[in-house]
Amino acid sequence: MARRKKIYEGKAKTLYEGPEPGTVVQYFKDDATAFNAEKKDVIEGKGVLNNMLSEYFMTGLNNIGVPTHFIRRINMREQLVRACEIVPLEVIVRNYAAGSMARRLGLEEGTQLPRPIVEYCLKNDDLGDPLVTEEHIAAFGWASQQDLDDILSLALRVNDFMSGVMFGVGIRLVDFKIEVGRVYDGDYQRLIVADEISPDSCRLWDIETGRKLDKDVFRRDLGNLTDAYTEVASRLGLMPKGNTQVARPTLIN
Ligand code: TMP
Repeated sequence: MARRKKIYEGKAKTLYEGPEPGTVVQYFKDDATAFNAEKKDVIEGKGVLNNMLSEYFMTGLNNIGVPTHFIRRINMREQLVRACEIVPLEVIVRNYAAGSMARRLGLEEGTQLPRPIVEYCLKNDDLGDPLVTEEHIAAFGWASQQDLDDILSLALRVNDFMSGVMFGVGIRLVDFKIEVGRVYDGDYQRLIVADEISPDSCRLWDIETGRKLDKDVFRRDLGNLTDAYTEVASRLGLMPKGNTQVARPTLIN
């Protein structure tokens, strides 16, 4: 069978050339990594869940006018997205202290922040994605001042949308990371939400019990990761009724 041309292989996804110019096929793998890939595992069903969850969040964002790269889901593991130039930043929005921010500032995990706080990390695995300031970003040309204004506005709109959707199903959006891509429409360029939005890139805590429903379950060995992601998907009404298991692929010889 002819294989599509691979464009890029990341830790959790592979990108292939899309069927039309300006499109890309994004394939969600089952690989899980943490701490810059020092910890690795294959978690059966994770890719299927993230494909479905990212489709759900990106479609919701598109519907309220927040532009994203998402076009449509192709199958259980693949989605068609718009080709874009990824801005080399990880854009993090935090509503409650957790993870690296809690460590860095000596805050107790779960402390509510006075307002959403946006942080930028340089996307560079060799350097461990270091935190950078707007000064670094503008001076080194990773994004312009106008881009930064647009990125901030996108990030806060995603935060409002995601916080509301999650609150509606009893989940607190503690923090999340997005990536932003540049697309060209004729003479204009604009920025859109790219990559994925899934429990791999968010912190999601059950509002009642505090149970973690995100990749910290893997990072911190807190239990079964697919159970946690399945819980998020079923609360959002994405799991087939009466079946909370992700269908397992069967090998056809
Ligand atoms: P942090 O507290 O470890 O800096 O993570 C902040 C948020 O960003 C959290 O929701 C997890 C997400 N994240 C990623 O999506 N990719 C990464 O490589 C890291 C370190 C964090």
